[in-house]
Amino acid sequence: MMFGKTTFTLLYSIANLSLVVCLACTNCNDIVLSFNNPSELPSRCDGQLVETDVCQVVFRTNYVTKEIHMNLTGGSDEIGNYRLELAVQNKFDEPKMKDVNITYTCQNSFDCAKIYYLLTIQTLIQNELILDKIEEEIFDPTVVNVQQCSDNQDQPVTCQNGYGCHGYEIIENDQIDFEGECRNDSTVTIFPRQYFRITLVQGDPPLSSDWNHFGFTCNKQNLCNSRQQIKKIVKIANDFYPWELIPPNSSTNV
Ligand SMILES: *[C@@H]1O[C@H](CO)[C@@H](O)[C@H](O)[C@H]1NC(C)=O
Ligand SMILES: *[C@@H]1O[C@H](CO)[C@@H](O)[C@H](O)[C@H]1NC(C)=O
Ligand SMILES: *[C@@H]1O[C@H](CO)[C@@H](O)[C@H](O)[C@H]1NC(C)=O
Ligand SMILES: *[C@@H]1O[C@H](CO)[C@@H](O)[C@H](O)[C@H]1NC(C)=O
Repeated sequence: MMFGKTTFTLLYSIANLSLVVCLACTNCNDIVLSFNNPSELPSRCDGQLVETDVCQVVFRTNYVTKEIHMNLTGGSDEIGNYRLELAVQNKFDEPKMKDVNITYTCQNSFDCAKIYYLLTIQTLIQNELILDKIEEEIFDPTVVNVQQCSDNQDQPVTCQNGYGCHGYEIIENDQIDFEGECRNDSTVTIFPRQYFRITLVQGDPPLSSDWNHFGFTCNKQNLCNSRQQIKKIVKIANDFYPWELIPPNSSTNV
């Protein structure tokens, strides 16, 4: 069930090997794969190699349509050995959306972006169960109103016609911050009514600028966005994809 700590460790060890100066990467666009057969790339991609500085894969895993859309390319970005940008969302209200988008760039071994995809995809598909577990933890479709939410200082506040409590944890430059508030129909926000979202940006030093974020709106019970509750959910979310670069004394290590 756990997302491969092993996978990540393996990638990390690959990342620590000495740099390959010129790289060969698969260059193949507009690939569509189904969850039934996610590892079998179309034969038109066979041997489509380009020589570049970095390999890149962009793929969108859609848990509603059970499809993966992917582009494999080469590029010339300034990166460390690798860089990962990951965004997961689960939007409970209609239209339902549940997907994860990943951009992974690397320059440490032959066709490394394709290898990353092949090592990762099966776990991402299996880990849909973890996204469902988080949903169950924060969302109750039968609840119409919440009375109390936690504020930015983790103090209870009374909501007026609140449909949910909003909360997030953000980690940036090794600093952790939490926020919380009530949401009602007059709250103007770009976010869906009921959702959660995980955003991770990770790379290796010295070029990394890591950025990790977990945000959600919940209605399961009063104070469902308390700091304690946020930490509990982040811990579950950590099983979806490991937030490896968070400092050891951070909240997720409780
Ligand atoms: C792949 O590239 C095409 C343009 O070449 C773009 O329209 C499409 O959105 C890209 N797909 C992904 C998954 O990034
Ligand atoms: C993934 O990308 C698609 C297409 O750009 C977008 O509609 C969707 O909202 C993205 N999902 C996340 C979790 O960012
Ligand atoms: C929403 O909440 C705010 C602040 O708690 C309050 O001022 C406003 O009247 C509420 N809106 C509705 C429609 O109840
Ligand atoms: C982690 O520990 C360092 C040094 O011991 C300290 O400066 C930092 O504030 C701590 N961070 C958190 C989130 O507790």
